[in-house]
Order: sequence, then structure tokens, then C-alpha cells
Amino acid sequence: MTNIILLGPPGAGKGTQAAKLVDARNMVQLSTGDMLREAKTSGTEMGKMVAAVMDRGDLVTDEIVIGLIREKLEAGGDHGGFIFDGFPRTLAQADALGDLLAETGNTLDHVIALEVNDEVLVDRILGRAAEAVAAGGIARADDNAESLKVRLMAYYKQTSPLIGYYHAKGDLKSVDGLGTMDQVAADIAGVLDA
Ligand code: AP5
Repeated sequence: MTNIILLGPPGAGKGTQAAKLVDARNMVQLSTGDMLREAKTSGTEMGKMVAAVMDRGDLVTDEIVIGLIREKLEAGGDHGGFIFDGFPRTLAQADALGDLLAETGNTLDHVIALEVNDEVLVDRILGRAAEAVAAGGIARADDNAESLKVRLMAYYKQTSPLIGYYHAKGDLKSVDGLGTMDQVAADIAGVLDA
């Protein structure tokens, strides 16, 4: 079992690469963003509580997301390992993840930082919103210029310190996220199989 964190700003390709790993390695994707969006759509109390915060692009509380991850880790299961996609996003979440992994008899094997510059991130996120609308769908409520600015600020202020945190622990590997999706997947596979 290999447990990994995919770290990176909005639009870096965390979800895209997590989905590829699920297919290729029977891993389980734990996306806190997907879990929160599901709670929002199904109208749970928690979903109602986080909706406005998510839509404007800010982070929801550590307590909520740590609780979501705790549930999944405690449920266990027979699979190739967990992919933490969009979690942790603060130093408090990183500390909590370390504790949760130890409590549930898991280890953290790799932290992969996907590197993509802001210009490309903006193009990808606004491009995804435009594609959704062009296909008659609805864009993600936070895929707009205003919310994206807040998401990027939250990333640089609250999440990017995790790069130093995991680097100091010797767990961090950086992968160029600018290549094609398949190139990025191959580079991630190279890290996992090294
Ligand atoms: P979350 O859902 O995690 O969103 P995010 O990290 O802001 O951004 P994305 O999921 O859009 O980016 P991604 O890196 O997964 O890229 P993707 O593969 O989708 O979080 C949403 C919100 O939930 C947060 O703002 C916060 O409010 C809350 N939240 C979630 N977790 C939290 C936590 N731990 N603590 C507190 N709050 C939390 O790709 C993006 C686009 O680019 C796609 O269109 C894709 O097709 C395209 N693309 C991907 N890779 C490539 C490539 N190599 N080449 C070309 N295009 C590509």
C-alpha cells in the first residue's frame, strides 16, 4: 500500500492525476473538495455551512476537513493506497494527517508537488468554466476570476508553506505539471516506482 499527497495550487492537475492513479494502481482518491461539493449538493448541514466559504474561494475550517479524512482512514479497506487530493492545505491539517496516519497504522510514502505557473492555472480554470457553459452545463461556483483570485491567495498564504514542511521531512518530490496529462502521469509514476 502506497499513500501519497498530491500538493499544488488550484488547476495544477491534482484531481486529473489522482483519477489516473485510481485506474492504474487501484488506489483510493480522497478529495476533500469533492467531498465538500457533495455535501453542498445534497444539502447536508455541513454542506450549508461551507457553501458560501467555498464559493468565494476561501478554505473551510480545519476541523471539518480533518473530520472528513478521519472517517475515510478509519473505514480502511483493501486497495493500493490513499491519494490525498487537496488535503492537507494548512500546517494544522498536515500535523493532523500525520497523527491520523499513525493512529490507523498507515505511513505517508510520497508528497508530490505539481508545479504550474499562475498564468496556466488561470487559463485552465477559466477554460474549464467556459467549456462547462459551452456544453450547456454549469461551471463550478468557484471557477470564476474573482473566486480564483481568492483560491490562489489561500494557496500561497496557507498551503504553500507545506512545501517547506514536507521538504524538511524528506518526503517532497516536485513534478513539472506543465506537460500533457500523460507526461505528468509518467513523471508521477517515475517517482512512485523509483
Ligand atoms: P478543490 O476541489 O480541492 O479545488 P482546487 O484545489 O482549488 O482546484 P481544482 O480541483 O480545480 O484543481 P486540480 O489541481 O484538482 O486540477 P484539475 O485536475 O481539476 O477545493 C475546492 C474548495 O473546497 C477550496 O477552495 C476550499 O474552499 C474547499 N476545500 C477543499 N479542500 C480543503 C481543505 N483541505 N481545507 C480547507 N478547505 C478545503 O484540473 C483543472 C483543469 O485543468 C481541468 O479542466 C483539467 O482538465 C485541466 N488539466 C489538468 N491537467 C492538465 C494538463 N497537464 N494539461 C492541460 N490541462 C490540464
